Amino acid sequence: MTLKTGDAEQLSPLEARAEHGRLVEEIAAHDIAYHQQDQPVITDAEYDRLRRRLVVLEERFPELARVSAVSRGVGAAPSGKFSKVLHRVPMLSLSNAFADADVTDFLDRIRRFLKLTDDAMIDLTAEPKIDGLSISLRFEQGQLVEAATRGDGAEGENVTANVRTIAEVPAKLSGNAPDVIEVRGEIYMSHADFAALNSAQEAAGDKTFANPRNAAAGSLRQQDASITASRPLRFYAYAWGEAPELPGNTQWDVVQAFKGWGLPVNPLMKLCHGADDLLAHYRLIEGQRADLGYDIDGVVYKVNDIALQQRLGFVSRSPRWAIAHKFSAEQATTVLEAIDIQVGRTGALTPVARLKPVTVGGVVVSNATLHNEDEISRKDVRVGDTVVVQRAGDVIPQIVSVVVDKRPSGAVPYAFPHVCPVCGSHAEREEKGGKADAVRRCTGGLICAAQRKERLKHFVSRNAFDIEGLGDKIIEEFADEGLLKVPQDIFALESRIGGTLQDRDGWGAASATNLFAAINARRSIMLDRFIFALGIRHVGETTARVLARAYGSAERLRDAAVAARPGNEAWEELTSHDGIGDVVAEAIAQFFAEPHNVEVVDALLREVSPQALAAVATSSPVSGKTVVFTGALERMTREEAKAMAERLGAKVAGSVSKKTDLLVAGPGAGSKLKDATKHGVEVIDEDEWFRRVGGSSS
Ligand code: IVH
Repeated sequence: MTLKTGDAEQLSPLEARAEHGRLVEEIAAHDIAYHQQDQPVITDAEYDRLRRRLVVLEERFPELARVSAVSRGVGAAPSGKFSKVLHRVPMLSLSNAFADADVTDFLDRIRRFLKLTDDAMIDLTAEPKIDGLSISLRFEQGQLVEAATRGDGAEGENVTANVRTIAEVPAKLSGNAPDVIEVRGEIYMSHADFAALNSAQEAAGDKTFANPRNAAAGSLRQQDASITASRPLRFYAYAWGEAPELPGNTQWDVVQAFKGWGLPVNPLMKLCHGADDLLAHYRLIEGQRADLGYDIDGVVYKVNDIALQQRLGFVSRSPRWAIAHKFSAEQATTVLEAIDIQVGRTGALTPVARLKPVTVGGVVVSNATLHNEDEISRKDVRVGDTVVVQRAGDVIPQIVSVVVDKRPSGAVPYAFPHVCPVCGSHAEREEKGGKADAVRRCTGGLICAAQRKERLKHFVSRNAFDIEGLGDKIIEEFADEGLLKVPQDIFALESRIGGTLQDRDGWGAASATNLFAAINARRSIMLDRFIFALGIRHVGETTARVLARAYGSAERLRDAAVAARPGNEAWEELTSHDGIGDVVAEAIAQFFAEPHNVEVVDALLREVSPQALAAVATSSPVSGKTVVFTGALERMTREEAKAMAERLGAKVAGSVSKKTDLLVAGPGAGSKLKDATKHGVEVIDEDEWFRRVGGSSS
């Protein structure tokens, strides 16, 4: 970054917008590099400089601050919205275990990663997984200074004023709390309070909530904090974010310290030794579930030793050292009133069961998924049938089976439509390895209004272009009017309706200006978001990031994908990247084989400039190098060594060639050591590796 804080004066509004967008993205990327990948790319001072630059820009161009108030405490919140908070340490999610065997697998993975013996005892905490919403509470000198929702994990909403009204969240920590600590936990509502709230809402003719979690979320995200104050929200602390001085070395001790500071912690948290202990505690909590008075959807296990947590690190967005052991699903029976077909963004025709409303595990269910055509015929689900409905946690409820005895006499087998209910195009099932794909898809592509709208919604969604002010309803409206057909149309909106938008229903001068500012701010966008926004099948955020890092520019990705055919060089290159197998490569190649998709990409590139991701650890002594590990490693497992090297920006190869830069050889190294000598590759031992990369394994 070559920015000076002083030259904001010289920027035109357009340049300022572009730079603002770039800065916001860049700061977010550094937050991820620092906290999620454990590998800062820039120094703290440089990071602070970026943030200051953002503040300067937003002071000079206040509309930017309103469009995206990311800088902590800076800029007014846009009306009807909260300002945003960038999490200094990302708020992660947990991977799930369903069966007991998943729990033992989880422990086995930990042992393997840490190179422990098969019977090594690992201490873990076990505690209820509260079904609420997570919150990060920042305390400075013991005072609550900021409260933020999880948001997308990297950036949440500033709900400080609202959280201050929650009696269970102390405004000041008691005892000797550290100077800075971000306490994380769950905000939730009890069953009794939920029921009372819903009856009060109903009596007042206001909307009622589907479940306690929605009620808690709705109550917290109030524009008017006095409404939050009137809602009985509760809190449990169970984790932390930024915490320069932790009050203990174990999960258990830190949570006990929380308790000492006056924070509520769950009384069912227990320190367990090994799998049997965990499972016993799981059963105990499961047995008490119905009587707890609040919703829980599983038990969370966390490795107790924080040093081990650090060694274990993360995969994607979940820690390796924790897992949520979910409770099994809850079931009920009801009548299937209709089967509707929904058409998704990718053209998939999805059957949705419309049900006579029924309560399943405390939640009213009126829709359930039927998955696909084959599933309907396999279960012979017919309209009018009595069906068993199951829901598990947040997953969409499912139809498990039909109670055939209760089938009405006139019920006929369901005939799945062969045309798209939205555009009337033929709907086909692709051939996959000689078998028909489970999913029937509309072939209407961009002419199909369902796909067009869904594609546009995806394009502007939070983890894609994240264009504030361009919500679903507005997309629908603009799409219906023909103003938006393809993503690039978004960038032509200002010239097409810039002068008249403010006169439309529901719009004013400020909201119109804000929308165009939000759109223009995205003329600079991180490359991974750009790729994700295209809505290529199988290309989620993680894959988009891999592609962004691998190709460095949209043009290079496009050219490579256009060239890729199974078996050729471009294909080999594409599939050589982490997480990109034949199926994903096929989807990418198919996307770019459609001329209209390439047209969209090219048209977009005339409007926006995707920014390459900050390289992983460009400053580490091994970044950009190809490293091979061989022989016995004593201070780390092979898997740990690989993860560490990659975090430091190195590429880890399995064999030594003339492209290898470094061979890390432990005792017993054999042929690879010989190859290294042959190719003149530098050979070092494990201790030297640690000396070079900074000494410690954590
Ligand atoms: S620990 C890095 N503990 O579950 C681990 N999460 O699926 C951070 N949750 O977003 C989470 N109860 O909202 C943890 N006792 C508990 C929890 C819990 C509920 C939620 C939390 C998180 C989600 C992850």
